[in-house]
Amino acid sequence: MGKAFRGTATRATGLAALFGLVAIGTAGCKQAEAQGGGAPAAALAFRDSVDNPPPGPGRVFRLSADYPKAMPGPCAECAWLNIPVSFDTNFPPKSSPNEWTQGKWADYIGAILTYVRQGQDPNLADAVGFRTDIGGGTRWFNVPWMAYDPSVGREFRHGTTNERTAELEDLVGPDGKPLPADADSIGAAHFLPQMTTACKQRYPRGFETWSVGYYNPHGGYAIGKAIPKDGVPKVVDYMGAPMPDGLPFPVGTAVVKVLTTNAPVDCVPFLAGSPEWRVNRHVMNPNTKEYMCKREVQVSRIVQIDVAVTDPRSPTGWVYGTYAYNGTQKGATFWDRLTPLGVQWGADPWTFPAVPKRDSLALQQSVANPKLDIFQHMGCQGRLAGPVDNPQSSCMSCHSSAYAARPGAKSVMGTNVPPSFGFDGLCTAYSADNAAYFQTTRPPQSFPGGKYPHAMSLDTSLQLEVALQQYGQYATSKAPQPCKDPS
Ligand code: HEC
Repeated sequence: MGKAFRGTATRATGLAALFGLVAIGTAGCKQAEAQGGGAPAAALAFRDSVDNPPPGPGRVFRLSADYPKAMPGPCAECAWLNIPVSFDTNFPPKSSPNEWTQGKWADYIGAILTYVRQGQDPNLADAVGFRTDIGGGTRWFNVPWMAYDPSVGREFRHGTTNERTAELEDLVGPDGKPLPADADSIGAAHFLPQMTTACKQRYPRGFETWSVGYYNPHGGYAIGKAIPKDGVPKVVDYMGAPMPDGLPFPVGTAVVKVLTTNAPVDCVPFLAGSPEWRVNRHVMNPNTKEYMCKREVQVSRIVQIDVAVTDPRSPTGWVYGTYAYNGTQKGATFWDRLTPLGVQWGADPWTFPAVPKRDSLALQQSVANPKLDIFQHMGCQGRLAGPVDNPQSSCMSCHSSAYAARPGAKSVMGTNVPPSFGFDGLCTAYSADNAAYFQTTRPPQSFPGGKYPHAMSLDTSLQLEVALQQYGQYATSKAPQPCKDPS
């Protein structure tokens, strides 16, 4: 799993640069016209995809960006908010072997799934995709500025992105500086549990994750304030600290992310029967098996559904949870074959490597589903992570590093914003960096450790981090980083 970080690094040129420019030249202008000739920032921020759909019929993704203009009322469908779960920590920790069922976390994550699947196609079929209009209104909204980067930006069929933008891929070296770009692969690659050795040989660079995320009306309201119609992120004062307008996300926010993998079923048997989405993703070089800038519409399979909800009882304000697709499980529809893996609402700062091993306490802010037979998926020291996630990280630790430079400036991980995806010694030894990364914080707190005093909290939204990063790229360079094929 050496390369199973949510991606290895990448930078880009050549063909794909042209690709990016072509996309700006046509799609961007068309939208600018459609929006009444608005500022270029608006057209780029709110365009549907970085690539151009071919002419003719066929599925095309449309960015859902008609955000609610007023704060929606209390979320009547957010049944999980009324489930009596406990966020308490105890010193020493209490042993509670049946926390998942008796502690009602199974009910909690079940209630979120009920909300997420409402009105969706039973098999989340390729021709239908993820529906945004549910019960006569818009239920789900996307984040702008994610269709700017030609390497990993939104594709036209399902709006998926290759996990994150080039800049965000940088791993941070021992000196705290970003490592030089690794030209090995374009985007985020992962391996999966239960993969045979023969498959590892067929896919030595691993598989690509292309995913798409949606915020419900409460979250959409906040996103619309953070990035208004002009496409320029808006920052206001929140409790004495700068934060994007609309944040922290209000109570009632729910976020869902659909993750796909290009792993074939003969490599990963638990993917049998998973929805096959055709996405415009990177072509693999048949000789080197590396992923290239060039994109083609190819089959990917849904492997994981991630969710995040705000809950005022949580010390971070959030609960993260994940479901893995399990084709070996009985169930009439795709949704019935999802297995919840666990929940997490903090990064367990009393557990190694946030503290030395001898002081390490049992986990208290992650609860795993004890009935997992097929997946080996947990993150650092048993904290929650999904099958395609970096096993050295965890949902909350990676997401707690969602910070940005002030709008218009570039965010560089390890320099002016914390590293999200990795740094020397991640999860392996007690260190100041690990202690900062595995902390439980709440906005507008700055990132722990004092290294990034000017980075502003994005209340765990890494999609907003991508958006602000891309806006910073636009504001400083007026062009995206071009895509560069692995040499
Ligand atoms: C090593 C980093 C990393 C880990 C670990 C990680 N994520 Fe994320 N996640 C990201 C990035 C980057 C994005 C934004 C880009 C995108 O949507 O792909 C994201 C986006 C999301 C979103 C959409 C909202 C947002 O915050 O941007 C949700 C929901 C989410 N992740 C849930 C989870 C859950 C649940 C887990 C654990 C099972 C998890 N993530 C683990 C990096 C991570």
